[in-house]
Amino acid sequence: MSRVLAWLLIIGLAFAGSPDRGWKDGTVAKGTAGLLAPVDPVPVEVPEALQPHITKPTFVFYFSPGCPHCQATIGEVISLSEKLPDIAFLGLATSRSTPEELEQFRVDYGVPFPMVVDRPRGFAYQIGARSTPTVVLVEPTKKGFQVTDHYGPWFEGASVVFRIRRDPANAFSQFDAGAWQGDYACGACHVEEAQSWNLSHHAVAYRTLWTQERTSEPECVGCHVTGMGEGGFEMGHDGSVFAGVGCEACHGPSGPHDGERVDAATMCETCHDADHSIDFSVEKGLPHIDHFLANGMTQTEQEARWMALAQGTAPRPLLAFPEGDNVGPDACVGCHEETVTAWKGSGHAGAMKHLDATQAGQVECVSCHATPDVSGAPPKTVEGFDVDHGVACESCHGPGEAHVAAPSKTNIQGLGESCPECVLDAICTSCHDTEWDPAWNLEVRREAIRGHK
Ligand code: HEC
Ligand code: HEC
Ligand code: HEC
Ligand code: HEC
Ligand code: HEC
Ligand code: HEC
Ligand code: HEC
Ligand code: HEC
Repeated sequence: MSRVLAWLLIIGLAFAGSPDRGWKDGTVAKGTAGLLAPVDPVPVEVPEALQPHITKPTFVFYFSPGCPHCQATIGEVISLSEKLPDIAFLGLATSRSTPEELEQFRVDYGVPFPMVVDRPRGFAYQIGARSTPTVVLVEPTKKGFQVTDHYGPWFEGASVVFRIRRDPANAFSQFDAGAWQGDYACGACHVEEAQSWNLSHHAVAYRTLWTQERTSEPECVGCHVTGMGEGGFEMGHDGSVFAGVGCEACHGPSGPHDGERVDAATMCETCHDADHSIDFSVEKGLPHIDHFLANGMTQTEQEARWMALAQGTAPRPLLAFPEGDNVGPDACVGCHEETVTAWKGSGHAGAMKHLDATQAGQVECVSCHATPDVSGAPPKTVEGFDVDHGVACESCHGPGEAHVAAPSKTNIQGLGESCPECVLDAICTSCHDTEWDPAWNLEVRREAIRGHK
């Protein structure tokens, strides 16, 4: 054991801090040593009725037949029971469960091991189970019984953690090649990484779809979850550990620990393609997925960040046009004459006309009613804006300097093909915010300006 710990310490030092990516200092897999350390056995009283079931180390799955998490994890428990012949498995249903419910559960999930009801209410109390599913490993001793492992709650992916704890010297041989584990399993060792990931947009990617009632559309879900169609996320499983862009979406199933390494940086553009992410590049993206972000934050800061993510108000640093000069609509006429003519009659072109002389001198108003001279952080004074042309081409398409010099689709933000929800909506709502356009509806508003009218 001590050799394992020494080895981990060396690795921890080798990985600590990653200044080149702009990440905070941290310790890779900080929780590993704690996870691999043996637990002190805790003596426990086992009710007489249960004792015949515990004649060797026994995995006790305390559950309620109706609890969704129990239903979600029972499959994993069953495959675990098949992999560990030296351990007995026992299902222990909450004292309120009826024999009929228990039987139904057995049939529905094909449970191969014995299951009993915890009656009279006893064992759950002994092991301090507060919720279902809870798992304990109980071993008979000469004097009685003892608990040697405890999971409250038991979680999706916990079975690999359970196996690792049985055989810490061979921790990484417990990852089956190509098996999807889920973030909780990774987070059992990668404590700091998981905490920081939880504060990233990737953690709420499925929640974003759910808020918009789009989770039933497979063409949306694929990029907003982990491993869909490959053994990870399954359509409709809202509470799944794979709902969201998790560790394995970038690091591959089981990360590097099943012997297969994926260069995570090569995964970004499978989702952040030109239609779904403005001007994306790995270099731009990496600093914003700091795996040790949370290390520099107080509890209050973390809570605030989480709330902002959940409510969709967290900043989206990627959502910025490339750097460049805005050259104004006159520079587009030569090649896009019809478009410029149509746009000239639009509300956007006339946006400055609705401001009176005072308002037209206030950056608080001009910032959404005109186009800045350069892309990037919004100018702080009216002088930074082209006040003659209102909301012009480059407010929506990004800086045209390079495109005018050498027209191509790759140096201007085309919006026709792009996924309107992932990118276009955000561009429009940067001005059509809840204050100025409380009834914003992308489809309706987009139709209203189609053809730049
Ligand atoms: C038992 C603890 C443990 C678990 C569980 C675990 N890791 Fe690790 N991980 C480590 C340790 C220790 C290292 C550093 C040693 C190494 O490279 O193997 C590491 C290294 C890594 C690395 C960096 C390797 C490299 O060479 O760049 C990645 C990526 C990674 N883990 C991802 C994951 C993912 C994804 C999961 C979940 C599927 C996971 N880990 C689960 C302990 C764990
Ligand atoms: C090819 C992968 C992909 C597909 C398919 C996809 N998305 Fe996205 N989505 C992304 C990426 C990447 C981002 C982040 C873009 C960025 O910030 O640069 C994103 C962002 C979003 C956002 C903005 C989140 C926020 O923070 O405001 C919404 C909303 C969204 N997508 C909805 C959808 C809907 C609805 C669909 C189906 C019509 C869909 N997505 C299909 C990859 C995808
Ligand atoms: C959006 C993609 C993405 C997600 C999600 C993600 N990672 Fe990473 N991870 C990366 C990239 C990229 C690197 C850096 C690889 C490089 O520089 O070569 C990295 C590096 C690592 C490393 C190496 C340590 C280091 O400091 O370089 C570990 C360990 C790791 N990730 C674990 C995790 C775990 C655990 C999770 C989930 C809690 C996770 N990652 C989620 C993309 C991701
Ligand atoms: C499985 C698809 C997928 C992969 C792979 C992926 N992302 Fe994302 N990413 C998304 C989605 C979807 C969102 C939007 C989440 C939301 O806010 O709802 C997103 C959001 C982001 C954001 C925040 C959005 C913003 O506008 O600032 C950053 C930064 C980001 N990704 C960087 C990366 C980097 C860097 C990589 C590769 C190391 C990567 N992503 C890999 C799907 C993915
Ligand atoms: C010298 C001629 C020329 C000028 C000037 C010009 N464009 Fe273009 N633009 C083109 C051509 C050609 C294409 C089509 C490129 C292709 O199909 O490969 C194009 C395509 C576009 C597209 C669609 C891109 C896509 O991905 O579908 C947009 C948007 C665009 N231009 C905006 C502008 C704006 C805004 C200006 C003024 C700042 C401008 N263009 C100035 C020639 C020009
Ligand atoms: C965050 C962006 C934003 C800011 C800042 C902003 N506006 Fe607007 N404004 C809009 C949008 C978007 C509309 C169009 C709303 C619609 O069509 O529903 C609009 C419309 C208007 C209209 C036309 C209303 C109508 O009924 O057509 C006036 C007048 C106006 N704004 C004045 C102002 C003044 C004065 C200020 C400064 C105090 C200001 N705006 C600041 C985004 C903004
Ligand atoms: C309010 C945002 C907005 C403004 C301002 C805007 N566009 Fe567009 N543009 C779009 C959208 C959205 C599309 C996608 C097609 C559609 O919905 O009409 C588009 C498509 C295009 C296209 C490709 C398809 C087509 O219709 O030819 C070109 C070229 C283009 N715009 C040029 C321009 C030019 C030049 C200007 C300035 C005179 C301009 N746009 C101003 C939003 C805008
Ligand atoms: C730079 C800020 C900005 C952006 C970006 C923007 N708008 Fe606007 N939009 C405005 C303002 C300001 C007005 C009000 C114009 C006025 O004074 O009547 C407006 C008005 C409108 C109107 C009413 C037009 C009319 O003729 O009455 C529609 C529809 C609209 N916008 C749709 C969109 C859509 C769709 C997008 C994204 C493709 C978008 N806008 C992007 C600022 C913006």
